[in-house]
Amino acid sequence: MVVQAFEYILRDGRKALIRSPRDEDIQGVLDFLYISAGETDFIVRYPEECSKFTPEGEKALFDRINSSENEAMLVCLVDGKVAGNCHISWNNRLKTRHRASVAVALLREFWNQGIGTRLTQEMIRIAEENENILQIELEFVEGNSRARALYEKMGFRICGIKPNAIRLKDGTLLNMYSMIREIAR
Ligand SMILES: CC(C)(COP(=O)(O)OP(=O)(O)OC[C@H]1O[C@@H](n2cnc3c(N)ncnc32)[C@H](O)[C@@H]1OP(=O)(O)O)[C@@H](O)C(=O)NCCC(=O)NCCS
Repeated sequence: MVVQAFEYILRDGRKALIRSPRDEDIQGVLDFLYISAGETDFIVRYPEECSKFTPEGEKALFDRINSSENEAMLVCLVDGKVAGNCHISWNNRLKTRHRASVAVALLREFWNQGIGTRLTQEMIRIAEENENILQIELEFVEGNSRARALYEKMGFRICGIKPNAIRLKDGTLLNMYSMIREIAR
């Protein structure tokens, strides 16, 4: 679905534009995916795994998401640069259509500016507007205290742990935490 664009003032005073992705964002999103994957172990891919992402693939992805009734992506632009994005999706299956999945990621230079909070608020709003959705679900990697703090602030709680779900190149094994937030109806 296409979400109405809105602005958000960062804690440092800069202005962010948050909206559904457009063709003009393709290279910015590709750059964001590659750079962010190298900045933190809390994203589930390494930069070299981003080589499978192509401009054509991103265009097809944007078109699919923007025309879907079960999915939305938002990109956050600061001074014309893609600072990050978020994604929410759910399915139409009768037994699971009450569950939406969300994810958020930002370039490191934009962390702690409140963007993650604002994007999460917007995904909660989208979920609230879709009457079938009763809960929002997400995962974060062990040690990601910033993400955990953000999600707990937004009403999520930990509901499970997948042991050793992430294996870094140096062999370090990290657990994956599942979180859930109910939608009040
Ligand atoms: C996790 C992420 C999306 C958060 O977005 P953000 O814009 O930095 O978050 P916000 O600024 O809105 O809020 C972060 C909160 O964590 C708090 N925080 C910051 N550093 C922290 C730390 N080391 N430990 C605990 N809390 C911390 C901040 O104080 C803030 O809370 P507050 O608003 O009550 O002050 C972003 O940091 C990111 O993209 N990280 C890398 C990718 C990632 O981890 N994605 C999430 C995967 S589940």
